[in-house]
This record gives sequence, C-alpha cells and structure tokens, in this order.
Amino acid sequence: MDLLAGKTGVVFGVANKRSIAWAITRAVTDAGARVALTYQGERLEKNVRELAATLKDPLILPCDVTKDEDIDAVYDEIGRQFDKLDFVIHSVAFANSSDLEGKFVDTPREGFRLALDISAYSLVAVTRGAVRLLKDGGSVVTMTYLGSERAVPGYNVMGVAKAALESSVRYLAADLGEQQIRVNAISAGPVNTLAARGISGFMKMYAEFRDAAPMKRNVDVMEVAGTALFLCSDHARGITGEIIHVDCGYHIMGF
Ligand SMILES: NC(=O)c1ccc[n+]([C@@H]2O[C@H](COP(=O)([O-])OP(=O)(O)OC[C@H]3O[C@@H](n4cnc5c(N)ncnc54)[C@H](O)[C@@H]3O)[C@@H](O)[C@H]2O)c1
Repeated sequence: MDLLAGKTGVVFGVANKRSIAWAITRAVTDAGARVALTYQGERLEKNVRELAATLKDPLILPCDVTKDEDIDAVYDEIGRQFDKLDFVIHSVAFANSSDLEGKFVDTPREGFRLALDISAYSLVAVTRGAVRLLKDGGSVVTMTYLGSERAVPGYNVMGVAKAALESSVRYLAADLGEQQIRVNAISAGPVNTLAARGISGFMKMYAEFRDAAPMKRNVDVMEVAGTALFLCSDHARGITGEIIHVDCGYHIMGF
C-alpha cells in the first residue's frame, strides 16, 4: 500500500522505539514516504540513528524546538536535500515532572511557560518554518490528549498546554487552508512511552482506561500511527482543523 509514494516528510519527536513518533515514522515510510527525523540533543542522537538505520535514505538532524535557529537549520537542510515537503509530524511535549503531580493550582510561572513553549508554541514554530517547503500544500499532524478537554488528575499543566495546542491547530488551519496546507491533531488514548511514564498515576490511568473504553482495551500505537498516515495521505485532503480521537471511544463515555 504505497499511499505516500514520492512524498517527503519531517518527524519531530522520536526519542526511542516506544515513541509515538517512531510508530508514525514506520507507518509513513512503509507507505513509501522518505523522512527526515529530528532528535533533541546529543543524548538521543544514538537512539535515533540506530532506529533510522532501518529506513531508506533518512535524513537525521538535531532540533531543540525551543530554539528558532535549530528549526531554521532543519528546514534549510531539508530544502537542500528534499527540495520540498509534503507533511510534518509534530510529536513533542514536555513539562517539569514536579508539575505533573500534586495540584495544578501550585504550577509555578516558569513551569507553565516551559510546558506551553515546548508543547504548544513549538507547533506554531515548526509549521511556520515548513510553509516555504510545503509547495504543493500538505499535512501537519500533532499529538494531543483528552486532558485538554477534561481535568485529568496528574496531567495538570500539560492539559492546559494541550488546550493551547488544539486551539493552535484551528488557527493554523484557518491561516494556511488557502495554501492547501491542512493542520490536524490526533487525541490518543494512553500509550506506554517515556513521556507518559512521567505523568504521576499513568499506569493506573492506563488500566482504568481499558475498563471504561467502549472497546474494552487500550489503544495500540500502530492505530495512532495509521491515523497519522491517513491524515498525511490524499484520502484526508478535505480534513483540516480537526481533533481526531483515537482512543477506543473512551472520550464519548459519561463515566
Ligand atoms: N503516550 C501517551 O499516552 C500519549 C497520549 C496522547 C498524546 N501523547 C503525545 O504524544 C506526543 C509524543 O509523546 P510520546 O508519548 O511518544 O513520548 P516520547 O517521550 O517518546 O516523545 C516526546 C518527544 O518530545 C521530545 N521533546 C521534548 N522536549 C523537546 C524539545 N525541547 N525539543 C525537541 N524535542 C523535544 C522528546 O525528545 C521526545 O522525542 C506528545 O505530544 C505527547 O503529549 C502521548
């Protein structure tokens, strides 16, 4: 199934083999796309290079999304190597672990600023940088979670950041629609990754989710990746500004 044959993309957010970004990378490359992967700092470079060794002609670039110069360098290099882009995967989030436990009301100003900068503003920055390369239009996909819509214990400031991220999806979609650049988010059910394990009570949330979801199971990361593949493909060419829940139906339940 070569849904993305001849297409090129960039994926922000691979840390290790459990990362949602890595599952998406596998889905889009299996569908024929060529990708650039970015890694956050030297600590993660080895992981990402090892994973990327299984891909055909990947481009591997450093990028700390808090640094505009890193983002500019990524797109300059992609411009040189790929000439154009068709999709951008943004699968990046961070908050201090001390702000993902206890009460939201205690969130310090700096922790709030940091979480919103890395987890929400970065979507605006990486989308803006990509526009000049999304010459034939394209698809931007980001990752969100239900904690944006509901108060999920322990999710705290990340819930506020995800609300800002989802609103940014709509504003970006409104700005860029005329250029046929689509911007959407996937609201995934809990997946056991590095970032998820930073949330206090995650394993309890994971187990309770399975019991409460209509489908009585947790979401499989490749189901999330499959939705990202769909959103990057021409099958989704009429969809923008949308938040698609991939959560075995969990969000529809009252309790
Ligand atoms: N795991 C879940 O249950 C779940 C559910 C819904 C949404 N999400 C979202 O999916 C996305 C990916 O998370 P994941 O669960 O795959 O965990 P992960 O830890 O594998 O990925 C998070 C990524 O963010 C990157 N990152 C953090 N700060 C950065 C910075 N300053 N510059 C560049 N990159 C930075 C990390 O390097 C890492 O690659 C996040 O937005 C997360 O909120 C996760």
